Amino acid sequence: MNKATPPLVHIETFGCQMNESDSELVRSLLKREGYGFTDDRERADVMLMNTCAIRENAHNKVYGHLGELHAIKKERPLVVGVLGCMAQSLKDELTKKVPLIDVLAGPDAYRQLPMLISNALQAQEQGFSKKAFALDLSEYETYEGVMPDREDGINAWITVMRGCDNFCSFCVVPYTRGRERSRDPQGVLAEARQAAALGYKQITLLGQNVNSYRSDDWDFARLISAVADTPGIERVRFTSPHPKDFPRPLLEAIAGHPKICKHIHLPLQAGSDRILDLMGRSYTADEYRRLVDQIRQVVPEIVLTSDIICGFCTETDADYDQTYRLVEQVRFHSAYVFAYSERKNTIAARKYPDDVAEEVKSIRVQRLVDLQREIGAARNREYIGRNVSVLVERDATRSPEQWMGRTDGNITVIWDKGTDALQPGMFTTRLITGASTAALFGE
Ligand code: 5AD
Ligand code: SF4
Repeated sequence: MNKATPPLVHIETFGCQMNESDSELVRSLLKREGYGFTDDRERADVMLMNTCAIRENAHNKVYGHLGELHAIKKERPLVVGVLGCMAQSLKDELTKKVPLIDVLAGPDAYRQLPMLISNALQAQEQGFSKKAFALDLSEYETYEGVMPDREDGINAWITVMRGCDNFCSFCVVPYTRGRERSRDPQGVLAEARQAAALGYKQITLLGQNVNSYRSDDWDFARLISAVADTPGIERVRFTSPHPKDFPRPLLEAIAGHPKICKHIHLPLQAGSDRILDLMGRSYTADEYRRLVDQIRQVVPEIVLTSDIICGFCTETDADYDQTYRLVEQVRFHSAYVFAYSERKNTIAARKYPDDVAEEVKSIRVQRLVDLQREIGAARNREYIGRNVSVLVERDATRSPEQWMGRTDGNITVIWDKGTDALQPGMFTTRLITGASTAALFGE
C-alpha cells in the first residue's frame, strides 16, 4: 500500500450497539494496516456498511444505501464492502442482487478485512473486479488484543461476550453471530483501564446475552463489579441481558456498587405463556413478573426497560391481551415494540406460520406503543420536583444552547446551558421541573 496516500475508508453502521462496537474494532484493524478514514463519502476509496439482519426494515435500509453506492460506483473507482449480520446470512441474495459488492465479511471474520480490501483495491487498479468473501463463524474469536478505535464522547463500549446459544425461535442472531463465547476477564479489565486513561467516564459492557458471561470462575456479577472498580470510571452499564441469567448475587452487585447503573433492559417479548413457549424464551409470564418483583425488591431505584414483539406466529387477540395487561402491570420506563418479522432459517420460519396479518400486527404495535407512552410519561412525571444527578453527555439535539445528559437510570435530561461551566463527562445535579415521554427537563 502507498503509505503516503493511504486509501480512505468510510464506515456506516446500522443496527445495535454491538455493531457500533464492531465498527470500532474494524477501524482499529484497518488503521493498523495503514488505512485512513473519512466521514465524507465523496472522498472515500472504500465504503463499508456494517449491517443488521434483525428485522426486514433493517434489510431495506441497507438495500437503500447500496442503491446510492451503485450511483457513485458508476462515476468513479470504489471498493464496496458489506460487513455484519446481513453479510453473514444473505451471501447468495446479496451477491446475486447486488453485483457492486466487492467484499463480504461476517462478524467473526474482521481480522481478514485488511487483506480482502487490499486485494480488491489492487484488482480494481488492474481493471478487473475480484469478489472476496470471509464468512466463517468461529467458536473462539473474541478479538482479544484488538483495542477498539473508539468514537469520542463519554461512553466506551466493551464487548465481553459474543454470540448466542438461546435460539429464540424468531431470532436470526444465533445464525449470524454464532455460538456464545466469553472473553478473558483480564483482557476486559485492561480495556476498561485503557478507556479510563483516555478519559471515558462510562463503560457499557456488551454481549448478545451479556449476563451469560462466564470465564472459569468469573461470572457476570464478578466481572461487572471489577470493571466498576476501575479508577476514573464513574458509571458502568450493560446490554443486552436475558431474563434467565439474573441470579441474586448479580442483583446484589447492581444494588451494592455505586458505579453500576440502576438500569436493566429486560426483554419481555410476550406476555402469553403459549407464545413465550413457541418463542423458546424459557420463562413464563409469571416467572418474568416474579423476577421483576425480585429486582425491585433488591434494587428499589431500578429503571426497567424492555423489548416486545407483536404478532408472532399464531398470536391471538387473547394472547396479545395478556402482553398488554402485563405491560400495564409491570409499568416499564420505556419499551421498544416491534412487529414480528419472519427471518429465513429461524426455528419459527421453519416450524410456525407467519399468520398474523400485517395490519393486525401494526394495530397491536400501535396500541402497545400508546400504552407505553402513557406509562413512560407518568413515570417521568414522578421525577418532577426532585434533584437528580446527571452525567453531562453533549449538546442537546434540538439546541446547542442546551445540554443533554442522563440519570443513573439512563433517562435523558435536557436543560439550558446558562452560565454553568459544564463540560461533557462532568456530573451535575439538576432540579427536574418538567417531563415528557422521552425526557426530563431540568433547571
Ligand atoms: N421480529 C421482530 N422483532 C425481533 N427481535 C428480534 N428478532 C425479531 C424478529 N424476527 C426483537 C426482539 C429483540 C430485539 C433486539 O429485537 O424484541 O429483543
Ligand atoms: Fe436472539 Fe434470543 Fe439470542 Fe436475544 S437471546 S440474541 S433474542 S436468540
